[in-house]
Amino acid sequence: MANPKEIRVAIAGVGNCCQALLEGIEYYRQNPQDMRGLMNVEIAGYRVTDIRPVAAFDINAGKVGHDLSEAIYVAPNMAYRYPGVKVAPYGVTVQMGPVLDGNPPHLAEFVPSSQQKPCDIVDVLKQSGAEMLLNFIPTESHQAARAYADAAIKGASIGFINGMPTLIASDPEYQRAAIEHRVALIGDDVKSQLGGTAIHRALATLFCTRGVRLLQTYQINYAGNTDFANLVARGKSKHKTKQEAVTSLMPYPVIMSTGFTHVPLMKDRKTSIFWIDGANFGNAPLHLEAKLEVEDSANFAGVMVEMIRYLRLAHDRGVSGVLDSASAFLAKHPPTQIPDMQAWEQLKEFVAGKRER
Ligand SMILES: NC(=O)c1ccc[n+]([C@@H]2O[C@H](COP(=O)([O-])OP(=O)(O)OC[C@H]3O[C@@H](n4cnc5c(N)ncnc54)[C@H](O)[C@@H]3O)[C@@H](O)[C@H]2O)c1
Repeated sequence: MANPKEIRVAIAGVGNCCQALLEGIEYYRQNPQDMRGLMNVEIAGYRVTDIRPVAAFDINAGKVGHDLSEAIYVAPNMAYRYPGVKVAPYGVTVQMGPVLDGNPPHLAEFVPSSQQKPCDIVDVLKQSGAEMLLNFIPTESHQAARAYADAAIKGASIGFINGMPTLIASDPEYQRAAIEHRVALIGDDVKSQLGGTAIHRALATLFCTRGVRLLQTYQINYAGNTDFANLVARGKSKHKTKQEAVTSLMPYPVIMSTGFTHVPLMKDRKTSIFWIDGANFGNAPLHLEAKLEVEDSANFAGVMVEMIRYLRLAHDRGVSGVLDSASAFLAKHPPTQIPDMQAWEQLKEFVAGKRER
């Protein structure tokens, strides 16, 4: 019997984040008693297992033309494998997207471009009955990101979740287009479940509330996945979303640096190092260092399953445009940055129907 709560999603970029999202959903389907690792078991009655992929786009010759259930395991994908989980065929063939700036030479070392003719994205989205498009293509693929945003928002009139740092939800043009086409938008760039940005923001907030002046800080991240190979070569927009996510919280200017290193043997396991210099009582020096190790793509997927359900709820209520509370709590670069606890309260108000967006 058809699931009336089914949330039909299309995905651009069948990389590690897509693998972790789809295999993670299967993990919860096959282990219905296990709720560990979920921010919310239900959002307005929607469970993560209500999410169903109905269309997918990539440009990798090994993925295009294959069922999505197989494509998620094609190299260079290497996300954490959920023990014992098997993903059954979806009946969704990965379509050839427009390459544009998605596969520059430093990525083409890992990703063989398919020679197939690009599909008509709008047509595929319409035929699939997708309610929203999730954008997981490589950082700095600005042209391709806009091609997908145009196709979803302006062409097929469906919702859009921007998982990467190109400014879409933060761009007034797309904000207006979303209202005009009566669809909702969340973004930009996922703030992972317990990732570098969430931790750095929490530490910075702690300095503020305890009256310790934060003088200068850096965050170094390394992993062995393709995302990191890309960030080393062209990480400009990621540096920006990461730094602004922290400095925008501070009531005074703070010097912040971010760094990315590609360490192949680490595969999808990411390390973040936080380094902060501060001035304590009477300007006495204070220094803090912390380290996080996490499965990078699973950390992303835990937030994506939230964004998808909030976007569906907005559509159920006929709400269009940027979902401010979900973007502020779950994205690194929302149109408006607010402290996480305030964003969390606003998001609860949104779910309770006390706030429009
Ligand atoms: N924790 C995280 O992993 C995390 C957190 C926040 C944001 N992000 C962002 O999510 C995005 C995806 O990350 P990932 O680790 O899955 O990267 P990935 O490199 O593993 O996957 C990207 C996929 O996009 C495909 N692609 C390239 N150009 C394309 C195009 N024009 N059309 C369709 N597909 C195209 C590639 O072939 C690949 O399959 C990145 O921009 C990353 O910065 C990731």
